[in-house]
Amino acid sequence: MTTPLSTDGACFGRVAVVTGAGRGLGAEYARRLARAGAAVVVNDLGVGLDGEADGTTPADEVVAEIRAAGGQAVASGHDVSSWKEAEQLVELAVDTFGDLDILVNNAGVLRDRTITRMTEAEWDSVIRVHLKGTFATTHHAANHWRERHAKHPERVGRLINTTSVSGLFGNVGQANYSAAKAGIAAMTIVASLELGRYGVTANCVSPGAATRMTATLGGDPDDPTRSPGFPAAVVEWLASRHSDGVTGRVFLTSGKRLSVAEGWEHGTPARPSEDLTELDATLRDLLATARPNADMRG
Ligand SMILES: NC(=O)c1ccc[n+]([C@@H]2O[C@H](COP(=O)([O-])OP(=O)(O)OC[C@H]3O[C@@H](n4cnc5c(N)ncnc54)[C@H](O)[C@@H]3O)[C@@H](O)[C@H]2O)c1
Repeated sequence: MTTPLSTDGACFGRVAVVTGAGRGLGAEYARRLARAGAAVVVNDLGVGLDGEADGTTPADEVVAEIRAAGGQAVASGHDVSSWKEAEQLVELAVDTFGDLDILVNNAGVLRDRTITRMTEAEWDSVIRVHLKGTFATTHHAANHWRERHAKHPERVGRLINTTSVSGLFGNVGQANYSAAKAGIAAMTIVASLELGRYGVTANCVSPGAATRMTATLGGDPDDPTRSPGFPAAVVEWLASRHSDGVTGRVFLTSGKRLSVAEGWEHGTPARPSEDLTELDATLRDLLATARPNADMRG
């Protein structure tokens, strides 16, 4: 089923790349950005949840859907975890639509295992797709934005990354995924500090929705509060002119909850000491009053 294009046009004239947009949340982001007037590069390597090739070309289907609704889209089968292919993905946007304004890093895989059982390959594949895959596209897009800013300082850029409650708060069985997602949240802060001078904002979404990635967690996939539409609305807002000046923030977004995450804090300061007895007393005092870490339930 296709939805008519919005006349709101919050992203009219903007060019977007959405990675991992062949299914799940990314597909919804791509549809939504296209409805808001953006020309969209729908990127998806077409892999199983574990990152293994499964012979599918889901990006083509999303592109066909967007075009049938009157939008502009092109498919990309690039692997975002490849430095070269990430560069080619950025080039595809510029060659096809003349520019790149919005980069949504969303592609992801899962290889859950407890720390004692996790293999090197399971660690590497999740870190590669999420962490390197986010940095590689960001690096090439940032170079495009730096060069563009010199000629067109009026143009703005949007970097929208994807973290997770697993990365923000930690989750059993996901050392690889939590580490990658926490790294992405930290990397987004760095990007907000470095790219502002090129007119680029950098933010993160921590989404929640019924997709194949959450299928094993149980719950009704048709529960309307688990619709990818809720995170997609936040992504559209971040991609649009409505979010001008908003940068370096993490948005927790699902149909059940919407909030702006508040990150690590310094905590109450105490006098440092090299004396173990004194240090023991000081640390016990600090621990007695320090707030516990937030957890996945908020
Ligand atoms: N669904 C949730 O509730 C939830 C919660 C927290 C975070 N997330 C994050 O949201 C993002 C989207 O998740 P989803 O639930 O839609 O998952 P999904 O499995 O439905 O979609 C992920 C897509 O990424 C693609 N992909 C994987 N590796 C790729 C690569 N190297 N290059 C290009 N494409 C690649 C896959 O083919 C797939 O279509 C992920 O980063 C995930 O970690 C999702």
